[in-house]
Amino acid sequence: MPTPASLIAAKRDGDAIAPSDLRGFIEAYTAGTVPDYQMSAFLMAAYLNGLTDPEAAALTDAMLHSGTVLDLSDLPGTKVDKHSTGGVGDKVSLILAPIVTACGVPVPMVSGRGLGHTGGTLDKLESIPGFRTDLSLDAYRRQIEELGIVLIGQTDEMAPADQKLYALRDVTATVESIPLIAASIMSKKLAEGIDALVLDVKCGRGAFMKTEAEARELAETLVRIGEEHDVPTRALLTDMNVPLGRAVGNWPEVEESIECLRGEHADTLLMEVVIALAGEMLALGGAAETPEAGRARAWETVADGRALTTFRRLVERQDGDVGVVDDPSSRPESRPRAVVEVPDTAGPYVTDLDALKVGQAAVATGAGRQTKEDAVDPTAGFSALRKPGDAVEPGGVLARIHTKRTGDLDALRERLQAAYSFGDEPPERTAAVRDRYTADGWTGASG
Ligand code: URA
Repeated sequence: MPTPASLIAAKRDGDAIAPSDLRGFIEAYTAGTVPDYQMSAFLMAAYLNGLTDPEAAALTDAMLHSGTVLDLSDLPGTKVDKHSTGGVGDKVSLILAPIVTACGVPVPMVSGRGLGHTGGTLDKLESIPGFRTDLSLDAYRRQIEELGIVLIGQTDEMAPADQKLYALRDVTATVESIPLIAASIMSKKLAEGIDALVLDVKCGRGAFMKTEAEARELAETLVRIGEEHDVPTRALLTDMNVPLGRAVGNWPEVEESIECLRGEHADTLLMEVVIALAGEMLALGGAAETPEAGRARAWETVADGRALTTFRRLVERQDGDVGVVDDPSSRPESRPRAVVEVPDTAGPYVTDLDALKVGQAAVATGAGRQTKEDAVDPTAGFSALRKPGDAVEPGGVLARIHTKRTGDLDALRERLQAAYSFGDEPPERTAAVRDRYTADGWTGASG
């Protein structure tokens, strides 16, 4: 194998690296024989000069095979997962996974934690008292066989090279690179033992990818890597300029998810995203002929209560308190501490709400973490957020604040108010799903 220094120089100078050399380099880093300083230099060169398609494939492969690659092929059903590139108020997995399972498609899901202004499914689930996300891979396997749904965190055995590399990227300003993000996401997803994958690639102020061009490139890279590994993969490009739903924070989002599973909030952008992803998953999982037929089946499970029952079973099986699922208001510690009022100067309609600013304000309530080591307050965040298109009156309730922090509530109020724009006319409602990408190319939102 060439020396680490020569591989770094090749990437620095824009020369191609042989896939086998890149694999060897990653293996050596994972084994501890390449030090962090050399990998940091390589990552920065990759960040600046990009990776070729064969290099991105080799990096994914090396990270995937650095740990256990689960084989669930002996279990019945086509196992389908969904992954989001991350956003604010993104509680989609909590609603989507039970819907898809209730339609007969097994959903094995390995999720992540929130970092910075974006939330993470694991933190949301752990806000349910008792809920365990640290299952062993044996328990994960058993649960998918017996219940058809399991949601856990990445274990030490899964893609350990990604865990090491991600920690290094986090402190070397090399996270925001499309091929590095794609390889990181896909190595973890392909290790889950899934048969098909749907990606929710978020685009806008509150997403990693701020522009549509970047989001499209990420979607294309992710789908290509999935297909190269013989895992049918599709991506939806969805809006993340405005938070999804009316709650941001861990338990506040679980409460909203339960409401959605009960059939409330049907005509929202949140449910548009959930149902669109469900349609794709059901079509890939063989439970519907087309995504459109899948969307109709998905709604049925909400209407007849099967999706909520599936969520309840998931919580029970992973040791969570089903009492709070049945009666979310039974948690006194989750009650709001204060309200944010509509400013006196506001026009009669909310015209915009900046997802990034809301996400950052939510971190200030204690709902998020700035570094991986920070603890989150499970019940902190915002609820009852007024959204673009809502009519408001000065002095009315703009949102509710949930926090245990004793700091300045006025500063929190001001931060949230600064995320809003008001005007005389309601804005036009735009679709949450902007486009759809498959191995055949971009198809338009509805497929
Ligand atoms: N999510 C991941 O899993 N990896 C990245 O690199 C970025 C987001």
